[in-house]
Amino acid sequence: MRFHTRKWVKPQDLNPNASLFGGRLLEWIDEECALYSIIQLENPKVVTKFMSEINFKSSASQGDIIEIGIDVVKFGNASLTLRCEVRNKMTRETIISIENIVMVSLDELGKPQAHGKSEIEFVKDRLKD
Ligand SMILES: CC(C)(COP(=O)(O)OP(=O)(O)OC[C@H]1O[C@@H](n2cnc3c(N)ncnc32)[C@H](O)[C@@H]1OP(=O)(O)O)[C@@H](O)C(=O)NCCC(=O)NCCS
Repeated sequence: MRFHTRKWVKPQDLNPNASLFGGRLLEWIDEECALYSIIQLENPKVVTKFMSEINFKSSASQGDIIEIGIDVVKFGNASLTLRCEVRNKMTRETIISIENIVMVSLDELGKPQAHGKSEIEFVKDRLKD
């Protein structure tokens, strides 16, 4: 799993119990999955279709640095299934894991569109062509 993005937990990210608000974390994960899918599928029109069980394993506090990791589970026809893990950067303790997040590539009309991809690509390799 590659951990692409780091976040710094700030006062505006906390819930009334002074720990990281779960909704904020899901927002960060959703955006990370969207960016990952847009880059992999080379299509800016990608939506989140499905998220499997969300398991908050530990919490984070103000000032913590967390990192968001993404792995590909499966390339489908119009879909890309991802796995996500968020952990504390310094302690490596897992904060949340989500086993299946299904992102769908769309056409201009908002209908599922085959993406034609079957393996992870790196932008640096595309730029060599
Ligand atoms: C995404 C959307 C176009 C899919 O429409 P649909 O009629 O379900 O399309 P399909 O049945 O052709 O499925 C498309 C793909 O999604 C997958 N899929 C559909 N429902 C799924 C579910 N409940 N769980 C997992 N995967 C699912 C299908 O397996 C298919 O994958 P494949 O093309 O790789 O085989 C439609 O549901 C939609 O617009 N949803 C709203 C998305 C949204 O607004 N998200 C939040 C904002 S980003």
